[in-house]
Amino acid sequence: MDDMSSFEERCRNAARLIDGHSSIMAFTGAGISTESGVSDFRSPGGVWERYRMVTYQEFIADRDARKGYWRMKSELFRELSNAKPNAAHIALAALERIGKLKCLVTQNIDGLHQDAGSSPGLVIELHGTNREAVCLSCSKRWPIGVVNSILEEVDFEPLCDECNGFIKPATVSFGQAMPEEEMVKAFRCAQESEVLIMIGSSLQVEPAASIPRFAAENGSKMIYVNRTETASDHLADILFRESAGKVMSRVLELLND
Ligand code: APR
Repeated sequence: MDDMSSFEERCRNAARLIDGHSSIMAFTGAGISTESGVSDFRSPGGVWERYRMVTYQEFIADRDARKGYWRMKSELFRELSNAKPNAAHIALAALERIGKLKCLVTQNIDGLHQDAGSSPGLVIELHGTNREAVCLSCSKRWPIGVVNSILEEVDFEPLCDECNGFIKPATVSFGQAMPEEEMVKAFRCAQESEVLIMIGSSLQVEPAASIPRFAAENGSKMIYVNRTETASDHLADILFRESAGKVMSRVLELLND
């Protein structure tokens, strides 16, 4: 691990590593979106400092928990509705365009990778998306704006107009099953990855955090970009503690030189 060399030197090493390989994978977390004005979860002032976490089981069983969850979501939607992709999202889309990035696994639900120009087919959303809501009984889906616009009217308890089931954003809550197809695809990508770029995750949440570990176990080189320590920094061949936008825009500049 070369966390002692200068920023510029680490950027050059990262660009060289990317340049020398053809199967690059990105793994992103909430930290890639903070420069777009979207809060992460575990930094000071993050989501889990401001709101009580509601598990899937609580959502199903407890009316107050359900209402509290929707209140939290309606506040967070305000943050999200103004968010635009930042330099790090844009750099990943550029890496795809030059034929380097073969897959992008994200824990994020904000859709900013797609807004930045990453192909929807390349992006694997492990924790679902906040852009849609789903009926937990009959699986009917709505654009999130449709449900968000009626939340106050229905006192933060939206119910399906077909079957009266509970409506929830199409995200994966704690205690909820991970999407099978996405998990299979993500592990396959990790197995095939020659270089993995991890951006903005504390890597504390399983099973997502085991994906970069699996890539490293299968011989992938690892570039970590995270402002604070993560649960598996020891795996990083190149470690950045700088912000995602700063690192990724410099690495892209060097690749384009
Ligand atoms: N540049 C680089 N790193 C950053 C930046 C930035 N601009 N902003 C924040 N970070 C780092 C933080 O230091 C932190 O370590 O990003 C990390 C974000 O970690 P978490 O808040 O734990 O987010 P994440 O790892 O995505 O959380 C995983 O937990 O509750 C859930 O389901 C939610 O998908 C989420 C999962």
